[in-house]
Amino acid sequence: MKPPLLPKKTLCSTKIFAFGLACCALAFCLYFNSSSPVCRPRSDYVGLDTNEKPIVLLWFWPLGVKYDFNMCSSYFKIDSCTLTDDRSLYSKAQGVVFFHKDIGLASYNMPSAPRPPFQRWIWFNVESPTNTQQKYGLGNLFNLTLSYRRDADITVRNELTVVDAKENFVLPKKDKTVCWIVSNQAAWTGAGVREKYYQELSKHIPINVFGNAYGGHFLAYEDYYSTIGSCKFYLSFENSIHRDYITEKVNGPLVAGTVPVVLGPPRKNYEEFIPSDAFIHVDDYPDAKSLAQFLLHLDQNDQEYMHYFEWRKFFTATPHLLSINYEFIQPICLACDYISRNHDYHVVNDLYEWYFE
Ligand SMILES: *[C@@H]1O[C@H](CO)[C@@H](O)[C@H](O)[C@H]1NC(C)=O
Repeated sequence: MKPPLLPKKTLCSTKIFAFGLACCALAFCLYFNSSSPVCRPRSDYVGLDTNEKPIVLLWFWPLGVKYDFNMCSSYFKIDSCTLTDDRSLYSKAQGVVFFHKDIGLASYNMPSAPRPPFQRWIWFNVESPTNTQQKYGLGNLFNLTLSYRRDADITVRNELTVVDAKENFVLPKKDKTVCWIVSNQAAWTGAGVREKYYQELSKHIPINVFGNAYGGHFLAYEDYYSTIGSCKFYLSFENSIHRDYITEKVNGPLVAGTVPVVLGPPRKNYEEFIPSDAFIHVDDYPDAKSLAQFLLHLDQNDQEYMHYFEWRKFFTATPHLLSINYEFIQPICLACDYISRNHDYHVVNDLYEWYFE
């Protein structure tokens, strides 16, 4: 039995249609110089399939804490790579993330298989140099740096964003003047500088201390923002002082509607990230006593105090995730985003010279 033939007319128009489609595809490819699968043959590299999302392998769970990779798409709207902790995918991974603290002596726990030519290794560290151990053999090993530093390849920060519609800021109800949440008092972490300043400041103005250090009351995560919001000033004292090391300790009060009093790198460095009238720097005053006097003065002058919130007409601070389970998600999502968008060859020659300079 003959298969039923399409009527001649239909056959002809199908051919014309298919030809037209091919022409369109060709024109599309030429015009957009597109790398879409229609235009380009599949890559010859074994394991590097350009038609699929790149694989980014997390070599260690930072500090052993696991979390849900889906947070990248649900919370940070990043969905451009496949994140995995499955080491058997090593030879296919376009990016491998190494958390510095987890790298062992003489890098015994790093991959032993050869590195595929397309693969980039990412050094991930968000601790300041004071709290970063120098490990042997990490020069000429990584391709990308992932850190809070502005000049890292992938920078992790809580950035302010521009608001499009003016929102009327309502100051949260205040029943405390100065607050501080602090859990680390250990001088070896560099915290000695802020400790000294706190001791001096507290002689001249009462400070509400929360957290494990200095006998403060423990604060649950869900009370973090509301507690900071209930204070007029918040001590954003970094544990150690380094360029760009300006952490969530400043973001917290900016989100909560409180004025951060910062101790860290020089004011100029803060002003690269935060409007100059959004915070008070301890260096603005010759000593802790005069800073305390100024804070007490502002406490009595609402109009002057409100100047510290002018920036909110134009910018907004985004809440950072609080618990340790979430602390390392954002950097890893950013690494995923970077690997999917950027394919440049790159080598970090002297990691420590850059980081500890
Ligand atoms: C990554 O860095 C290594 C070590 O320096 C180097 O051999 C490799 O060619 C680099 N690869 C890419 C894709 O940048």
